[in-house]
Amino acid sequence: MPPLVDTIAALRARRKDFRNGGTVGLVPTMGALHAGHARLIEEARRECDHVVVSLFVNPLQFDRDDDLRRYPRSLENDLDLCRQNNVDLVFGPGVDEMYPQQPCVTVAVGRLADHLCGRHRPGHFQGVATVVLKLCEIVQPDRAYFGEKDAQQLAIIRRMVRDFDMPITVVGVPTVRESDGLALSSRNRQLTETERQSAPVLYRALSEAERQIASGVTDAAIVTMAARAVVPNNPELRLEYLEAVDPDNMQPVQQILGPVRVAGALWVGGTRLIDNLLCTPPRSSQEVL
Ligand code: PAJ
Repeated sequence: MPPLVDTIAALRARRKDFRNGGTVGLVPTMGALHAGHARLIEEARRECDHVVVSLFVNPLQFDRDDDLRRYPRSLENDLDLCRQNNVDLVFGPGVDEMYPQQPCVTVAVGRLADHLCGRHRPGHFQGVATVVLKLCEIVQPDRAYFGEKDAQQLAIIRRMVRDFDMPITVVGVPTVRESDGLALSSRNRQLTETERQSAPVLYRALSEAERQIASGVTDAAIVTMAARAVVPNNPELRLEYLEAVDPDNMQPVQQILGPVRVAGALWVGGTRLIDNLLCTPPRSSQEVL
């Protein structure tokens, strides 16, 4: 098993042992690890001399108490997955270690959080940015790995690193999916068997948007309407949002004249799933610069 440390002091002590010139890669997670997380770890393993994985269910980024309570936890499996992927060090602090008191100074996220998940989960990205900043301060990685599955999160972290001059390279890793298209997520474990059957409809909806865009439809309203129509009218399925945004600033676009991120959030019963695809229009509709 890779060593598991649960205090900041112990992490810093171990981190010092790494110092002899090697690069350190950090993979921040909330645990309940799956093959999507494993891809991030593999990438870190390939590029860095030392790999640190953090496991911390961050209360600051949950906007609903029941969601925090229900969030899956599986420490033994997580440690196993870390061992199989040759992780050097696992940081698994408790809430009291990370937040001995309610933080007073936090990271405010501007317009990057105005749409998509940021709009529907007030305070969520402030919580994410704050904990990622703390983890980076604690671990001091050279590189940090994030999934494109959470594209808005990735865009915000990239921007935070720039705005705060953090000496870290942020690496984005493509989404890992099941064979039916469903993006791997810790929350997939909360789905019943029937819900699991319906869940890939989000990916199918996004794929419909991708198809429309590839065929030259440039009106974002038409594209997103066609994508929404893929989700059947069913009390167990509720589309929270499905939007086409600029991949850099996460603002909605009206005309699709270059690559856009089409992103959606779907409630499947009591579980909220998110996914997105980067969609590129044919050359003929791309803006000539
Ligand atoms: P968590 O949901 O555990 O995800 C940890 C990292 O794994 C994120 O960067 C996420 O984008 C990536 N990931 C999740 N599913 C993936 C998939 N199917 N394919 C590729 N990458 C995937 O995201 C968080 O935790 C938290 O917000 C965190 C950044 C740790 C801050 O608390």
